Amino acid sequence: MSTTLQAGAAIAALGEMVQYCDLYDELGAAMYHDITLGDDSELREVLALLRSMPPGPVLELAAGAGRMSLPVAASGRAVVALDLSPSLLNLLADRVAGTLVPPARDRIDPVVGDMADFHLGRRFAVIMLGSTSITLLSAEQRQGLYRCVREHLEPGGIFLVTVPVPAHGAAEVSDIHRVVTGWSGREYDMFDAIVPGQDYRTVTVIGRSAPPDGQPVPVAVSRPRLFDGRVIGTELLEHGFRHRSDAAIGDCTERLDVLVQTWEMTA
Ligand SMILES: C[S@@+](CC[C@H](N)C(=O)[O-])C[C@H]1O[C@@H](n2cnc3c(N)ncnc32)[C@H](O)[C@@H]1O
Repeated sequence: MSTTLQAGAAIAALGEMVQYCDLYDELGAAMYHDITLGDDSELREVLALLRSMPPGPVLELAAGAGRMSLPVAASGRAVVALDLSPSLLNLLADRVAGTLVPPARDRIDPVVGDMADFHLGRRFAVIMLGSTSITLLSAEQRQGLYRCVREHLEPGGIFLVTVPVPAHGAAEVSDIHRVVTGWSGREYDMFDAIVPGQDYRTVTVIGRSAPPDGQPVPVAVSRPRLFDGRVIGTELLEHGFRHRSDAAIGDCTERLDVLVQTWEMTA
């Protein structure tokens, strides 16, 4: 059975108990955070790269609950953590208060905003966009992203972005189903399906244990775009960026590797 059908069957089995949500909204954010709290992917590479970059504040786009912002602040940089989801930024604020001590605690500033259209009125030494979250934007929104990044980088500033690239020999994998265990110990079914002809994949996350008191079961959906991340190279050159470095992280999923790219803003 295809992953799309498996997800459909799992949802059908829940009957009227289903409550659809976005993976990053009020309902979905708790699941996303639970699943990613113990995830350190990209972190080692990003922290190592930051050490070789100009000193100064960092703007993290699509920062979520601070999986990367917190370690970056702990490493000594001031971080503005921008995200569209107030729910995830609230989780970030709780984590800052609960896990960081001064002065690192005072270095993080959460801001609700759209990474394709933001105006903060200040500039940064580094702007980073990890977790291949650039795939959450359309091609048109990416143009807005590059314009905003230019407006917010100091001269000589660096844009650090991670993009998906096809994994060797994995081009045919269209269906992925796995059971993942969150930080809380709860288990989730995660279905990741590609339908031929669609330019996005559909990620569906369903908790395996029913919520207490007969509450509806959240079914969280996200639809990242499918594209070979190397296309952003052409786009960034057109927006006045110069390529600085590429580092590959292999085996991120059955289908994807990740490239950590750095780009320098030219005058
Ligand atoms: C894959 S998560 C990554 C979160 C975090 N960087 C991490 O590594 O855990 C994608 C994030 O992008 C955010 N997001 C989606 N669209 C956005 C937009 N247009 N502007 C800013 N954030 C956005 C979501 O709310 C979510 O926090």
